[in-house]
Amino acid sequence: MNAEPGPLPTELAAWLAAQADKDLLRFITCGSVDDGKSTLIGRLLYESRVLFEDQLAALERDSRRLGTQGGELDFALLVDGLSAEREQGITIDVAYRFFATAHRKFIVADTPGHEQYTRNMVTGASTAELAVILVDARKGVLTQTRRHSYLVSLLGIRRVVLAVNKMDLVDYAEPVFRRIEQDYRDFAGQIGLHDIVAIPLSALRGDNVIEAGARMPWYSGPTLMGHLDRVPAVRQSGAPALRMPVQWVNRPNQEFRGYAGLIVGGSVRVGDPLVAMPSGMTSRAARILVGDREVQQAVTGQSVTLVLEDQIDVSRGDMIAAAAAAPAVGELFEATLVWMSEEPMLPGRPYLLKCGARTVSAIVAPLKHKINVNTLEKLAAQQLELNEIGFVHVSTDQPLAFDPYEQNRDTGGFILIDRISNGTVGAGLLHGAVRRAQDVHWQALDIDQAARSAQKHQRACVLWFTGLSGAGKSTIANLVEKRLYTLGRHTYLLDGDNVRHGLCRDLGFTDADRVENIRRVGEVARLMTDAGLIVLVSFISPFRAERRLARSLLGPGEFCEIFIDTPLEEAERRDPKGLYRRARAGAIRNFTGIDSPYEAPENPEIHIDTHDTSAEQAAEQIIRYLRRIGAIDRDGVFIP
Ligand code: ADX
Repeated sequence: MNAEPGPLPTELAAWLAAQADKDLLRFITCGSVDDGKSTLIGRLLYESRVLFEDQLAALERDSRRLGTQGGELDFALLVDGLSAEREQGITIDVAYRFFATAHRKFIVADTPGHEQYTRNMVTGASTAELAVILVDARKGVLTQTRRHSYLVSLLGIRRVVLAVNKMDLVDYAEPVFRRIEQDYRDFAGQIGLHDIVAIPLSALRGDNVIEAGARMPWYSGPTLMGHLDRVPAVRQSGAPALRMPVQWVNRPNQEFRGYAGLIVGGSVRVGDPLVAMPSGMTSRAARILVGDREVQQAVTGQSVTLVLEDQIDVSRGDMIAAAAAAPAVGELFEATLVWMSEEPMLPGRPYLLKCGARTVSAIVAPLKHKINVNTLEKLAAQQLELNEIGFVHVSTDQPLAFDPYEQNRDTGGFILIDRISNGTVGAGLLHGAVRRAQDVHWQALDIDQAARSAQKHQRACVLWFTGLSGAGKSTIANLVEKRLYTLGRHTYLLDGDNVRHGLCRDLGFTDADRVENIRRVGEVARLMTDAGLIVLVSFISPFRAERRLARSLLGPGEFCEIFIDTPLEEAERRDPKGLYRRARAGAIRNFTGIDSPYEAPENPEIHIDTHDTSAEQAAEQIIRYLRRIGAIDRDGVFIP
């Protein structure tokens, strides 16, 4: 997955280098709040004795002062102390901790356990080979446990340790442990998790963490550390064929052109036949550089610069792959999506999708169903809320080379980014292309938009009126259309109220429905512009993202956003349809300006303040604008 953990702290890098010859196990710990995760990790770190001396000294001091454990070392303080330190510097939500035994080194991704931290879990799990799922022996398997396990399974982790913690609080009773183990196995089996080792332990007392617990003679399995130390560390197999997303094109001078990136699957040797995707152009590896060093071969996990034998066109974001096993290319995908934002996922809204080194514009639609993580039921849904998991179709505006996530986590995982806040709002797994891009062509037509416009002696464009209900959009749009009509121009007026009686009859006023409403109208406006018309669109269109989407469908200069700026108090005072009154009385829900937001345009082409501009003046101003951009000429006669 692409959610990057950020640079490793320098002491970690140094430590890893010193341990280079030992094998590495990456794991993640997942638990609900208060399951004792901090205590457990603190103990693992402490007992493997890689703590820095000063941190240890501080721990002993603090335990005496604040500890809840009556003078014993309080391991939770240690971990919490580390995270407090980090919060003062750069904030990373996933804490990567490291320790080692005689055989092996470990990196553990520690993720906060609150519900809203699914995002951190996804980040941590995407590089892990094993998950330690913590359960409080008194509480057993909770929704949170199921959600985490579901994510762990989705993200391709196959090995799980079920750590049944706080056994000291249930008198070390075997039946309690067995029941929880059985509950968990029943659930896990349904989501494809079969490699499960259940361990009863007490992180606080130390039973079965490092040393076997004498208080549980009925348990004969490994301790947690014993298991982590011996479990085979097989990295989830990446695709065996070469995969290298091109991070940047290195071109210091005319003679040298190299493609730099991280190998996320397979390996490459000098002379190997390669293909650049999505273009499909082929060549061979001429040189491979690791830093400044020339090598004959490079493997998964290495950052390299590749020089090809031929001058083919490869850009940043493309993927270089083994020619014999190229990745698939698609524009419409089946995917699983984990939603991570407080703002719901709205089908039809454009997001940025980042997969490998490539970022494209993408729309999620339709939302097939979401998953109830407790029952694994598929539920019909309009939108995805924070932490929900859905099965969706994702369409991108450009072809994307990918592998199914099951084959390669890097080339099959993606994140969605909100275009306005720039925050990561979702993480997803690609399962396959719904239909191959090359199956759906653009039909080449002899008569095009330019020809259709020229015949009408005009240049097609969209006048997009946005503003509150009752702002005066339709009144002004209507006047503009009448003026254009008398000038002999060819127009069409798409009006919110009217279109909602037909094309959008099935839509209401939830955020999701408005997004879909505007998406459809944007597409219709595009078709009508293609027909050579001057299209007037009069919709509240309250969200920036969808107005921007409508704009993106058209060519430069073809979209004119007109903000009919009437303050809420004024629109409400006019209340031409009596709707504000009814909305205030609670008879209409999700009413724009009252209990549904309106996001005013930031840079409209035309801003009409209805406070000091009459409808006639506004219409005049818009006609002048059309003349200025050459959509109609001065006398209404178009001069090509
Ligand atoms: S939009 O938000 O999806 O762009 P649209 O312009 O199609 O809205 O429809 C707005 C018209 O629907 C308003 O002019 C008003 O007559 C009517 N309407 C009915 N209910 C609502 C509501 N809850 N919010 C806004 N407009 C409503």
